[in-house]
Amino acid sequence: PIPRWEARADLLVVGTGVAGLTAALRAHALGLRVLVVTKAAAEDGNTRWAQGGVAVVLPGEHDEGDSVDRHIADTLVAGAGLCDEDAVRAIIADGPAAVTRLRELGAEFDRGASGGLARTREGGHTAFRVVHAGGDATGAEVERALLAATRDGRVPVLENHVAVQALKTPLGAVAGLHVLDPDGVPGVLTASAVLLATGGLGQLYQATSNPEVATGDGLALALRAGAPVADVEFVQFHPTVLYTGQGARGRCPLVTEAVRGEGAVLVDATGARVMAGVHPLADLAPRDVVSAAITRHMALGRGGIDDHVLLDATHLDAATFRTRFPTVYAACLAAGVDPVVEPIPVAPAAHFACGGVVSDVDGRTPVAGLYAAGEVASTGLHGANRLASNSLLEGLVVGTRAAEAVAADLAAGRLADPRSAVVTSLPVAPVAERDSVQRVMSRYAAIGREAEGLAVVGSVLDVSAVDRVLASRELVEDAALTLVSRALIAAASAREESRGCHVRTDFPEKDAAWARSQWVRLTPSGQP
Ligand code: SIN
Repeated sequence: PIPRWEARADLLVVGTGVAGLTAALRAHALGLRVLVVTKAAAEDGNTRWAQGGVAVVLPGEHDEGDSVDRHIADTLVAGAGLCDEDAVRAIIADGPAAVTRLRELGAEFDRGASGGLARTREGGHTAFRVVHAGGDATGAEVERALLAATRDGRVPVLENHVAVQALKTPLGAVAGLHVLDPDGVPGVLTASAVLLATGGLGQLYQATSNPEVATGDGLALALRAGAPVADVEFVQFHPTVLYTGQGARGRCPLVTEAVRGEGAVLVDATGARVMAGVHPLADLAPRDVVSAAITRHMALGRGGIDDHVLLDATHLDAATFRTRFPTVYAACLAAGVDPVVEPIPVAPAAHFACGGVVSDVDGRTPVAGLYAAGEVASTGLHGANRLASNSLLEGLVVGTRAAEAVAADLAAGRLADPRSAVVTSLPVAPVAERDSVQRVMSRYAAIGREAEGLAVVGSVLDVSAVDRVLASRELVEDAALTLVSRALIAAASAREESRGCHVRTDFPEKDAAWARSQWVRLTPSGQP
C-alpha cells in the first residue's frame, strides 16, 4: 500500500508516556513544531501504571546523610557493574530540577506529617528518597499532569496512529515515519527529527506488569532504521505481581516494592522468610536479587508451593495500608485477598527493559535524526538492573534533554530537510504468532536461561515467522515482538555469564570479561 495522507513537523514524538510528553512539552516551549503520535489512547501506556514513585534527592527534602552522590552510588550497585557512570551522574544530578518542573506543571506529590514531601524506600535504595503520589498511584498522577499540560498547551497528539517504519533521506538520516491512521490508512509524517518514546516490551512474556501496548515497537523501528540496541538481555522481572492462579496471562497487577519499603516481608507457606541470608538488604535487596531468590525458592518447592510466594503485610497498620496503597488494596480485594488480614500471593513477572536503543543522555542515537528517551532507550543509567523508581526520573530528565538536543541540532543545521525523506511503500517483515513467542520467551528466556533453551526460541521463530506487509497495528506489534525476541536471544546467548537480570543457569557466575554492554544490530529480517 502506498501512503495516502501526509503531514509535516519539526519533531515527531512517538509515545505519550512520561518521556514522550515531557519531550513534546519542552520542544513546544522551545518553539518547535511538534507532533505526537501514539498507537492507542494517550493515557494507555506504561507510565500510568507506575506505582512506587520517583527516586530523587530534593534540596531540603531528604534523609539525613542522603545525597545525590548516594543515589548515584545505589544506582551503580543495582546496575551490577554495567552502568555508564557518566550517564548515571548526568541523569541523577538533573533529577531534582526535573521533578520541580513537573510539580510546576501541576503534579501533586503526597505530603508527610511534617508538611514536606512524603518519601518511601524501595529495593536497592539505602535511604527514603522515593516521592510518590496518590499513595501508590504515582504514574497516574504524572500522566495526568503531563497530559493536561499537553492539552492546555495545544500540543497536537494523534491518538490511535501506529508508527510503522522510519523514513530516511538518501544520506541515511531519519526524516519521518510511515504511520497508519485509526482506519488503517497509511500516511506519511515528515520531520527533521523523530523521538522514540515508545516504552517497553513486557508483552514478550506471558505474565507482565505492563499493559498490552508494551510490545517493543520502538526497538523494532530503531533496529529496522539501522540503529543498534544495547543491554536488551537485561529484562527486569518485578518480584511481586499479584499471583492469581496458575497460567496467569497478560497484565498482572503490581504490588509495589514500597509495600516492602514500609515493612512487609516475603515468606513461604511455612512462614519462612524468603530473603533470609540472601542479601544484607534482605527484602529490600535490588530487584534482580529478590526476583532470582523467589524463583529459586519456588523451583526448590520450599514451603510446599512452587508457583508463588507470599508477601506478608499483615503487621502493618490496616488503615495506613488502605490509604498508602489504595491501588494494591483494590487489586487484592478484587482477587479475593484482604492484605491487611492475610498475606498476598505474589510471583515475579516481566516488568522493565533495562536496555534499549543506544542513545546518549541527550537522547541522540547513532542514526542522524533519530532520538530515544525513556524505557525504549539505553542511556547507560540502568546497566544490568534498574534501580527502583529511576525510570520515571529518566523519562523526565532525558525527555527534556532530548527536546533540547533536537532544538540545538536543528538550529545548528545538523538535521535533514524533511522534504528529502524518501517515501517507500509499507515494509514487509517476519511475523511470528504472538502466543508462540510469549510461550517460548516465558519458558526459555525469563529468569534462568541456558544455551539450549535460548536456541529453542530461535528455532521456533525460524519455523513460525512468515513475511507480512505491516498494514495493521496487530501486525506491527507482532513483527516488533518477533524482531525484538531475535535481538534479545542473540544478546542473551552471547552473554555467557550471570549478571543483574540476566541469569544463565549454565554460566551461574559473573565474569569480569563481560563487564561491558553489548550492542546488537539486526537486518530487518532479524539476521545479525
Ligand atoms: C514498584 O512500585 O515496585 C515499581 C517501581 C519501579 O518499577 O521502579
